[in-house]
Amino acid sequence: MSEKFYITTPIYYVNAAPHLGHAYSTVVADVQNRFHELRGENTFFLTGTDEHGDKIVLAAEKQGLDPKAYVDKISAMFRQTWPLLSIRPDRFIRTTDPDHIRTVQKILQKVYDKGDIEFREYEGLYCFGCERFYMERELVDGKCPDHHIKPVRLKEKNYFFRMSRYQDWLIDHIRSNPDFISPERYRNEVLSFLKEPLEDLCISRPTSRLTWGIPLPFDSNFVTYVWFDALINYLTGLGYPDDEMFTRFWPVAEHVIAKDILKPHGIYWPTMLRSIGLEPFKRLHVHGYWQMKEHKMSKSLGNVVTPSELVDAFGADATRYCLMREMVFGLDAAFNTESFKTRINADLANDLGNLVSRVLAMLNKYRGGQVPAPSGPEGPEADLKKTVQDLVPAWERNMEAFMVHKALRILWEAINVANKVIDTTAPWTLAKNPASSGRLDTVLYTLMESLRVFAILVSPVMPATAEKMLTALGINSKEELRLENARTWGMLQPETQAARIPSLFPRLETPGRKCAKKTIKNDKKHGDKKVAENQKQDNCIGIEDFTKVELRVATVIRAERIPKADRLLKLTINCPEERTIVAGVAEHFEPEELAGKQVVIVANLKPTKLRGVKSEGMMLVAKDGNGLHILTTDTPAEAGSRIS
Ligand code: ME8
Repeated sequence: MSEKFYITTPIYYVNAAPHLGHAYSTVVADVQNRFHELRGENTFFLTGTDEHGDKIVLAAEKQGLDPKAYVDKISAMFRQTWPLLSIRPDRFIRTTDPDHIRTVQKILQKVYDKGDIEFREYEGLYCFGCERFYMERELVDGKCPDHHIKPVRLKEKNYFFRMSRYQDWLIDHIRSNPDFISPERYRNEVLSFLKEPLEDLCISRPTSRLTWGIPLPFDSNFVTYVWFDALINYLTGLGYPDDEMFTRFWPVAEHVIAKDILKPHGIYWPTMLRSIGLEPFKRLHVHGYWQMKEHKMSKSLGNVVTPSELVDAFGADATRYCLMREMVFGLDAAFNTESFKTRINADLANDLGNLVSRVLAMLNKYRGGQVPAPSGPEGPEADLKKTVQDLVPAWERNMEAFMVHKALRILWEAINVANKVIDTTAPWTLAKNPASSGRLDTVLYTLMESLRVFAILVSPVMPATAEKMLTALGINSKEELRLENARTWGMLQPETQAARIPSLFPRLETPGRKCAKKTIKNDKKHGDKKVAENQKQDNCIGIEDFTKVELRVATVIRAERIPKADRLLKLTINCPEERTIVAGVAEHFEPEELAGKQVVIVANLKPTKLRGVKSEGMMLVAKDGNGLHILTTDTPAEAGSRIS
């Protein structure tokens, strides 16, 4: 395992404000940085802004600003956005920073002195949006594939980087280092591009048509092509060539990008590094696009969601979680606010939030909030212990491979095993019998210890949540947040005093609720008529009548006693919209026995009020000589599933 880690994001163009796509790459890098910190490694995380070139000059003109004033303004927007998402880069680099300008000039001179730069006349098709020449075969219907406009024919003298010299070396390097570019589809894409002879790269722009750039050190009539300038930021950020940081971190450099900039990173960049005698970066991680209605979310299309809109709606941790969980790294994903809300309600409010509140409520109730020493024989909770122990290495493997969505998926499977263990061990029953006291201690300890491990594993994606969870467990998060501590079972000290915390993730309203109400109303009208008809017959009903009764699976979010009503519990349920029902089961069940449980309800019963509490449905129970039994499903079903 490497003990050092250097991660970068693309440096974003300052021709518009940051959006969700930029936020995604930057959160990916931050999550990886935190993951490596959790492993106790020495890390460095670089992000920043790309500020030269035609695009920027045009954007500045539109706002009536000179380029420098304009780039200062937009760059600050990027810099100020990242803390909103709990992103903590070690350096925010700007290509207008004086040390970057010096580094670019130093490198240009080096490449020039080596004989890898040539001056020649070139005539070609130039796209001002991309700021590069296109070959005929790269165009789609004669237009730039990104900007959908016809490139302009330009003839001018320019400097060229002799990239073609390094083509064979690059093919060899990619072939012999399978991890160099991943996921594999992008590695194959670069290899397939390299099957054609590489053209040399035009790296200058005459000052007659562009002055907003870094002057070439060997010809003041030209400025540097924006990509040659921008890629070098990854070296400037470390203090190339003399800084100790550079020696320490360059060998472990890992870049995160989206597929739009695969070619500059997969081809230009390694050949540039080769030309100046440096080893190439270690790994290039390429992700897909966030899309809005099947189009790439982009500033040029204007179909963007801003990071601050998301943070305002969902909070930083939940936004980070959704970004990481909803996109399979490498593939495109459709952005949709409703799927974020559903994800937050299901995974964060129901699964994780409920688990934490149920476990802490039971610890408070049965052990005065103090962690007991496991003392009794083990029961079903032994499976949870095994699940958690197996989880840690599998989670680590997926994180290491940038499969964060998968690492989260298996973490949530374990969280649900813990929720299930509460149901199968029924601590409330154990608590009634003094002879089961040791068993109860073991169950509570196992649950608390699992929460400790979950908090550590949740921390790279949801740092604030991890801290809250550890505070609730009575643990100092600064010392606790190390992966080592998750690898060892049993580190939670008995007698630790847990603390009370507010609910981790309040549920969000979903529009599904209005629809459901409408359905209830309509179904009810027909239902009444049918039921009346059937009562005239022998107490039998036909299948068509039965199907009018809308039975659904619901998950209990919260259960509370109703003051001055000994028999009633108020249940807040997810079905999948949130609603309340009042159930006459308080003499048979403790509220905490019901929280998190899946139940069956009649969903289209006419709403009524009981003791001032609105009841929108009825929970089904079976009654026998032993009391009441709650109807549930044998394996977890999605909240709101129709029963037929
Ligand atoms: O290309 N989905 O800057 P840029 C996912 N300055 N990621 C997206 C995205 C989307 N819809 N839209 C943008 C540049 N991104 C150059 C980079 S690096 C030396 C120079 C993210 O502002 C993604 O990381 O156009 C993509 O590669 C990057 O923003 C492009 O940012």
